[in-house]
Amino acid sequence: MSFNLLKGKRGIIFGALDENSIAWKTAETVHAEGGTFVLTNAPIAMRMGRINELAEKTGATIIPADATSEEDLDNLVTKSMEILGGKIDFVLHAIGMSVNVRKGRSYTDQKYDFTSKGWDVSALSFHKVMQSLYKADAMNEWGSIVALTYMAAQRTFPDYNDMADNKAYLESIARSFGYFFGKDKKVRVNTISQSPTPTTAGQGVKGFNSFINYAEKMSPLGNATAQECAEYTVTLFSDYTKKVTMQNLFHDGGFSSTGVSQEIVDQFSE
Ligand SMILES: NC(=O)c1ccc[n+]([C@@H]2O[C@H](COP(=O)([O-])OP(=O)(O)OC[C@H]3O[C@@H](n4cnc5c(N)ncnc54)[C@H](O)[C@@H]3O)[C@@H](O)[C@H]2O)c1
Repeated sequence: MSFNLLKGKRGIIFGALDENSIAWKTAETVHAEGGTFVLTNAPIAMRMGRINELAEKTGATIIPADATSEEDLDNLVTKSMEILGGKIDFVLHAIGMSVNVRKGRSYTDQKYDFTSKGWDVSALSFHKVMQSLYKADAMNEWGSIVALTYMAAQRTFPDYNDMADNKAYLESIARSFGYFFGKDKKVRVNTISQSPTPTTAGQGVKGFNSFINYAEKMSPLGNATAQECAEYTVTLFSDYTKKVTMQNLFHDGGFSSTGVSQEIVDQFSE
């Protein structure tokens, strides 16, 4: 299935680690829709992941960048325009990491160095990416910037830990920067709030397997897959959504609007 929705468009895709990554599926789908792009990830992920394979099959160039480093981001933006031959039309921020979660620290026992680091990687990096693009005047008019988030920004999911706060901050940045990017450059900025998805980042959350099964039963359409998230992202990069901006868009099979489903009620029936 391909409609050439992104023919002639150029972009930067952050966060493809392996074939489970939402960014990996997005890169494949953008490629199928005619877009060209630079792939980027943290230097350490170059060694751990399989980004080279993805670059080969999508004809992309890889530029390593730590998304917390302004220097790395400025270099990424400048080099991307050189490689792609012009200004940027779309950007995907698919980055998340909590050091507290990784080290097994609960929400009520955070080590604040870990909290700061996780916030910088997962939330502030979105501001840094956009500030770098904005200052370099790197985005084409009617370009589109998307970051991925989770509903723990609105409702409490205890094991999501400090990532809940990071996602709330990330979503706020989309609204605040979306105002300036809209006014000054006619660029839209949105977040997609995605269903739980079995990726490296997702599976780091305690109790993830039970939770994904619960969400599947709660969502009238079932959980949205990584591939479906990629397809939704492509629509936001396309010219068919030009006036959608500063929004947090739920892509979750209806989970966020469901109080309880019949399947869950049945499990509690005597
Ligand atoms: N998996 C889920 O259940 C789920 C649900 C909703 C939202 N999301 C969000 O989707 C996004 C993508 O995650 P994913 O689930 O595909 O997992 P993933 O583990 O495949 O991707 C996370 C990426 O972040 C990158 N990253 C970490 N630190 C970085 C840094 N300093 N600089 C640059 N990149 C860095 C990692 O290398 C990795 O590629 C994240 O924002 C995540 O919070 C995931």
